[in-house]
Amino acid sequence: MKRALKIAAIGIIAISLYSLTPVISLYMKKDVRQPTNAEAAEKLKANQGELFGFIVFGDNHAGFIFDDSAFLKLIRNMNREDRYRKLPIDFVMNAGDVTFSKGLESDYCTYDKLRSMIKWPVISAAGNHDCQKGGDRRFREHIGEEEFSFTDRNSYFIVLDNKISDLSEKQFFWLDKELTKAAGYRHKFVLMHKSPISSYQRSWFRPELSPWSYKVMKLFEKHKVDIVFAGHEHMFRDNVFGGVRYITTGGGGMLIQIPDSDGGFLHYIVVRVYGDYVDLEVRKIFPPFWEFITYYMWKELFYCLKDVFLKDGILF
Ligand SMILES: [Fe+2]
Repeated sequence: MKRALKIAAIGIIAISLYSLTPVISLYMKKDVRQPTNAEAAEKLKANQGELFGFIVFGDNHAGFIFDDSAFLKLIRNMNREDRYRKLPIDFVMNAGDVTFSKGLESDYCTYDKLRSMIKWPVISAAGNHDCQKGGDRRFREHIGEEEFSFTDRNSYFIVLDNKISDLSEKQFFWLDKELTKAAGYRHKFVLMHKSPISSYQRSWFRPELSPWSYKVMKLFEKHKVDIVFAGHEHMFRDNVFGGVRYITTGGGGMLIQIPDSDGGFLHYIVVRVYGDYVDLEVRKIFPPFWEFITYYMWKELFYCLKDVFLKDGILF
């Protein structure tokens, strides 16, 4: 019995160490400059036809080994999305929090190395973690503009800068103008870091209590936006308000505290546009083995025990 336990322990350690090798080789890679948002959007201009796809994720938080290891696993899966040759994937969008905590130079360099491994152009929004202590300057150096629009085939995309949540009057004016311009396109998509409405009752994030939230949702409704993508909350959620679909996709790598059953899992989204129709699929990604053993297994065990022993469980 003792021997079997020993063999099992050695096996778990060996597999865990093996699952760490991609992130170790990432850290040994040389720094690579990556295209800015404008350069990535430029590559989409020659695309033709009305059947295409794009990928969305958020909150990879580069610069922390847990996050980078998980994001590498997401990238490996993303890069295989066109393997059935059914749908061309045009680009990838990141809903922000590209860096771990304070937008450090080293975190931006790690993000550059990571996105260099994604085989499609990457467009990134700014998150609250990317812009602290001079991080906003580094965002512009590495990634470029924080607020802009671009087009791909029959769709208009708007990237909003709401890393501090609130939107200014100037931003509302710009957004209204952009959405009016977008009227000539079949689909309109918005990418922003913080959703105007939290999809999770237990979340500490309560944007819907602020005036900008109602105002921007009414604007999206008026202009018939197809989907608003946001991150910030490290989870997946899919809701419809006023005919607009709001997707929270903050499972790009950061350690997730929310239970899996509530949407707290690593994932990215594949959006399919086929002419007049839009559809999406969620790709749930199992964490790297070492991360499962050291964190995710315990997180789920904690919620399981909480359900059993606390007042919402079977014992009381
Ligand atoms: Fe985040």
